[in-house]
Amino acid sequence: MSTRQFFVGGNWKLNPTSLSKAKELVEVLNKAELDPKTEVVISPPALYLLPIQAAVTNKQILVSAQNSFYKESGAYTGEISASQIKEAGLPYVILGHSERRTIFHETNEVVALKTRAALDAGLKVILCIGETLAQRESGETAKVCEEQLSAVVKQIKAEEWSNIVIAYEPVWAIGTGKVATTAQAQETHVDVRAYLAKAVTSLVASETRILYGGSVNAANAKDLAAQQDIDGFLVGGASLKPEFIDIINARK
Ligand code: G3P
Repeated sequence: MSTRQFFVGGNWKLNPTSLSKAKELVEVLNKAELDPKTEVVISPPALYLLPIQAAVTNKQILVSAQNSFYKESGAYTGEISASQIKEAGLPYVILGHSERRTIFHETNEVVALKTRAALDAGLKVILCIGETLAQRESGETAKVCEEQLSAVVKQIKAEEWSNIVIAYEPVWAIGTGKVATTAQAQETHVDVRAYLAKAVTSLVASETRILYGGSVNAANAKDLAAQQDIDGFLVGGASLKPEFIDIINARK
């Protein structure tokens, strides 16, 4: 197994529907026995970030924003800046999630600009990439992931990759219950790592953590976590359930 620290993130998306329910989720995690070797990050909706951060008593649990803009201030109604997230004491931000790319039309270049701004503000970034079913079926998975990453490679220096965790999330596996097989996930993670070695450095390739996301649950997490190039997970639906604890402990 690699020396990269295992990482499990919970992307709550636009859930739950009340702050009291969000605090209940945190209470379950505060009381749980979590593998101390796992880096744990939860990402609530923006309005819940500060109260949830205040509700976390287990300091192993870090809190992440789900998005940030590439400008620090100005006439950008509805946006949140990376420096505001940093000022709030939050260490991470998720960027480039496929829902941002498809629903909100974020291009590879916009995701790269957001990544640049987040790193400039002192945030660490969970950088999401992944292909659609049509792209996988036409054998374009590696090409799509490389295109998504290359826009970021152009924006940052090699040493800044230590502040980035990549989340490979095949769009066809997100929210569908159709998890990638261990072979599919491992193969794509190997391709992503090979691209980093070619486009950045072999050190960055070996040290950058690559998470898998897409219908991860307590039943499939252990087999996926046992793969050499799968360094953890970015979990959606299952992060809102007690089974999230089993996923955090998948390497225990
Ligand atoms: O960011 C993680 C998310 O996209 C995965 O969602 O519900 O398939 O685990 P889910």
